[in-house]
Amino acid sequence: MAAPIAAPPANLQGAVSSIPLPRSCTSDRLWRNRDGSQYSDRNGKSDQPNFILGSAFLGTKSFNILQILHISPSLHNLRIRHIFMTSEFERRNPYSEELKRTAAYIAQPGKGILASDESNATTGKRLATVGLDNTEANRQAWRELLYSAPGLGNYISGTIMFEETLFQSTRDGVQFVDILKKQGIVPGIKVDTGLQPIDGTDGETATQGLDGLGERCRRYYAQGARFAKWRAVIKVDSEKHPSSTSILENAHGLARYAQIAQANGLVPIVEPEVTLGPGDYSIERTAYISEKVNSHVFRFLNEYNIILEGILLKPNMILPGLDVPTPPPEEVAKYTLRTMMRSVPGAVPGIHFLSGGMSEEEATLNLNALQAYGPTPWSLTFSYGRALQSSTLKIWSGKEENWKAAQERLVALARANSEAQLGKYTGPHPSPGGTRILQTLRLGGAGK
Ligand code: 13P
Repeated sequence: MAAPIAAPPANLQGAVSSIPLPRSCTSDRLWRNRDGSQYSDRNGKSDQPNFILGSAFLGTKSFNILQILHISPSLHNLRIRHIFMTSEFERRNPYSEELKRTAAYIAQPGKGILASDESNATTGKRLATVGLDNTEANRQAWRELLYSAPGLGNYISGTIMFEETLFQSTRDGVQFVDILKKQGIVPGIKVDTGLQPIDGTDGETATQGLDGLGERCRRYYAQGARFAKWRAVIKVDSEKHPSSTSILENAHGLARYAQIAQANGLVPIVEPEVTLGPGDYSIERTAYISEKVNSHVFRFLNEYNIILEGILLKPNMILPGLDVPTPPPEEVAKYTLRTMMRSVPGAVPGIHFLSGGMSEEEATLNLNALQAYGPTPWSLTFSYGRALQSSTLKIWSGKEENWKAAQERLVALARANSEAQLGKYTGPHPSPGGTRILQTLRLGGAGK
């Protein structure tokens, strides 16, 4: 017969409610003898385990616990083992609650992320399209235009920056992080250092940047960053790709990065991007691959004890290859939602889609269509780079007299996507029509 449940031990002062659970809830590895026949304490005495589920208070902190009292017939053999529902990593992490608050704030309804973390090399390519040189002054001016746009904070809750930008200031000497915070926008930082080919594969890549990452995260936190981003690129086609090497390598990299970021107070944006690329692969194929990739990523996140309430996911929407006609938003939304439902735990606060080459209007319409399916466990929102910046940059073109008009375009695009996040977008779009905004994969250096 099961022994009565004992009082909570003295070091767990506070309310602990007792719910005896059926024996089948025990973990065999913990409680069963090797021969599988009986439960026993260290002295070999058989007995029954009991369970307590509830909250315990340690100092001012409360923990949800599943406490297993292993009670042997004689009281002096009382064994108490604690199994915390939270991992050691979460329990010992001084940032645990802050991470959850930051992630929930960024994923709040009606808001999304402005991705402005292009490396200096990629920014240079973008500036070149409007005839500007890739100088630090031009990069600084471009980012100042974005971050100081009046009203941006009504629609944007976070912005991802490149390292150079995180430490820059406006022309008037106000730090970028401060003008962002004033708008209610959380500063974030890209922490990966770009892509390298995986040897023996056909153009598949691994993301670099784990070396020294802890130290960098501490510096970024001290400068005001509260979230981070790491982009993993998965090549897809109709037959061979991705390889399991690529999926495993990238899932591992994302998980280890997420662990280091959380250990240092930064909410990790976990970005497994199944890249929109050439070919006639179907939307079903992208859905299937994305589901596999996401599932591997969460398997690895679990292996590294990542606090799921303290991350944000940044996946691709589900689109077919570029040789297939662009599907209507309803179809994209149907496959995208199915993929997320199948592969993303409900504890994740926000799914922030990348625009990944969609035109500015396409990105808004697809996001809007995604909301038609009713409440979801996570918010379905945006973390757009190209879909917020392309026409804004064209309007500015480096000319002072276009500054205000460019800022107005940025805010109009952000507002359209904010409405789409709420499922209330009706148009017309600030940048109607438009073509896809594609870019070639860049290897080496500090990535996108
Ligand atoms: P796009 O929206 O341009 O795809 O960029 C988002 C991003 O940050 C990808 O890493």
